[in-house]
Amino acid sequence: MNINRRELMKLSGMGVAGLAVTAPKIRSAFAGDIPQNQLADLSGNENPYGPAPLVREALGGKIEMVNRYFYAKQKELVKQIAEHEGVTTDHIVLGAGSSEVLCASILAYTSSEKRVLTADQSYSAIPAFTNGIGRKVVFVPVDDELKFDLNALYSRINNEIGLVYICNPNNPTGTMVDADKLRDFSASMPKNTIILIDEAYLEFSENFERDTMIDFVKKGHNVIVTRTFSKIHGLAGMRMGYSIAPPNISKNIVSHKMCKFMGPLGVVAASISLKQFEFHEFCRNKAKEGRNLVFNLCEQLGLDYAYGVGNFVFLDPKMPHAEFKKRMKMKGVDTARSFSPRKDWARITIGTTEEMNVFAKVFPEVINSYP
Ligand SMILES: Cc1ncc(COP(=O)(O)O)c(C=O)c1O
Repeated sequence: MNINRRELMKLSGMGVAGLAVTAPKIRSAFAGDIPQNQLADLSGNENPYGPAPLVREALGGKIEMVNRYFYAKQKELVKQIAEHEGVTTDHIVLGAGSSEVLCASILAYTSSEKRVLTADQSYSAIPAFTNGIGRKVVFVPVDDELKFDLNALYSRINNEIGLVYICNPNNPTGTMVDADKLRDFSASMPKNTIILIDEAYLEFSENFERDTMIDFVKKGHNVIVTRTFSKIHGLAGMRMGYSIAPPNISKNIVSHKMCKFMGPLGVVAASISLKQFEFHEFCRNKAKEGRNLVFNLCEQLGLDYAYGVGNFVFLDPKMPHAEFKKRMKMKGVDTARSFSPRKDWARITIGTTEEMNVFAKVFPEVINSYP
């Protein structure tokens, strides 16, 4: 990887003066204003380095495009993604973030009789949306390693399950189920049950090419894989994502989408970002470095943590969540909200190297400060 320190500073928007300079550039995903003392935003599972330099460069000159619709370019992007994933274009559906294709899949494959089956400690937007449209969710607990428990899920499959949602790697735990076991699980599903695999964080893991379930889509199984430009591509604000599914399923997803057209800047950014392999490698390595730092701190402090592979770590700070969050924030570090059912565990997003240095100083102080 040949990003040198100067480039890295440019990438992360940092000046050589260090942390004091970075503070105004950071903001919390859910807060309107930047807190005065914020040194690190480790709350929102975004990519602190993105977007890639070439994407930034291209976007600078494209603002004049936004008075137009951009159907042709959008079609080209679908073609580009299809080539990238090794499928035909009728396998790809673009969405406003992967959220849109996830929600459209739920709309398409649940009903008053058909429920979503998923784990109790996973991406909460899925049950929230399902319940919001008046449909039901069946939960099974995650296993002892906080992974999706495929045997427990299998035992709950019946006529009432329309769709099984598996987040791999899982949010907020970061854990991954073994890809081969997931393939066996998917192959064992009844014909009318859809498996929805959310791979939002997969590209942060080391064996992402081996572990994707896209090969299963190619074989024509009832599998929908979702991907996003919000994470390793660093384009969360652009709202670009897509699903990869057999053509008949993709058609059904499209018919349940709210809007067929994407914003031109997002389309341009995604198209360029898809080719930024070196940048993605850099971000993948940084996420791993950050995870290892957090794992080591947990080991030193005697804290339990989930062995995650995404750009975040889920850990037990051994104090009430509100207390942990408040104490971290007082020292300038924003962390995520609490996640049921492990309400007192904390999710730490991996920030820039500089942010993680702040975390490494502040975290033990906070842990040791609690009686
Ligand atoms: C597991 C998971 N899936 C999907 C999303 C949705 O992301 P987006 O709509 O930005 O692609 C998120 C966002 O944080 C997520 O954590």
